[in-house]
Amino acid sequence: MNREAGAGSGTEPVVLRRARAADARAAADVWLRSFAAALPTVVRPRSDAEVRAYFRHVVVERYETWLAEGPGGAVAGVMVLEGEELSQLYLAPERRGCGIGDRFVALAKERRADGLSLWTFQVNAPARRFYERHGFTPVEWTDGDRNEEREPDVRYVWRRP
Ligand SMILES: CC(C)(COP(=O)(O)OP(=O)(O)OC[C@H]1O[C@@H](n2cnc3c(N)ncnc32)[C@H](O)[C@@H]1OP(=O)(O)O)[C@@H](O)C(=O)NCCC(=O)NCCS
Repeated sequence: MNREAGAGSGTEPVVLRRARAADARAAADVWLRSFAAALPTVVRPRSDAEVRAYFRHVVVERYETWLAEGPGGAVAGVMVLEGEELSQLYLAPERRGCGIGDRFVALAKERRADGLSLWTFQVNAPARRFYERHGFTPVEWTDGDRNEEREPDVRYVWRRP
């Protein structure tokens, strides 16, 4: 199966596993597909090649990176934890709405029992509803002057009740 495009049907089972250096390309590819589908109005200042290089040289090397992997190695999603920050959570478009996001957030809470924070774009209403269903609370709004997309965003935190 083509690792870049073939994330499988929404119903195929996935396992969550830590990403290795060799997974950087597939992790970046699922991120790129997810971002393009979910955030068509957000202008990315980085090229696809720059995103792939960032995953290879920074993300997978330095941060706790997890993949959702389907049968045959198809990558259905990627999650990145940077300290207390849930810095990336992106599913393949055909894998949204199947419970994988819930599993990733449960894993993040298990790995960071003291709490988590994250930024999401204000325009990303589905993601905001998703995080709020998982107990995240909005605490800070910006007009986008602190992110490179220059897109208004909102910071969420979760603390163990
Ligand atoms: C946000 C995300 C991680 C949630 O994971 P999930 O497993 O899809 O979670 P849910 O099934 O609870 O769906 C969350 C929301 O996504 C939307 N959604 C779900 N399935 C969808 C699909 N097939 N197509 C489009 N949107 C879908 C829904 O609006 C849903 O919210 P709602 O039920 O309140 O309307 C996942 O949808 C995703 O990767 N989205 C694109 C990337 C993104 O926005 N990441 C967050 C960046 S901070």
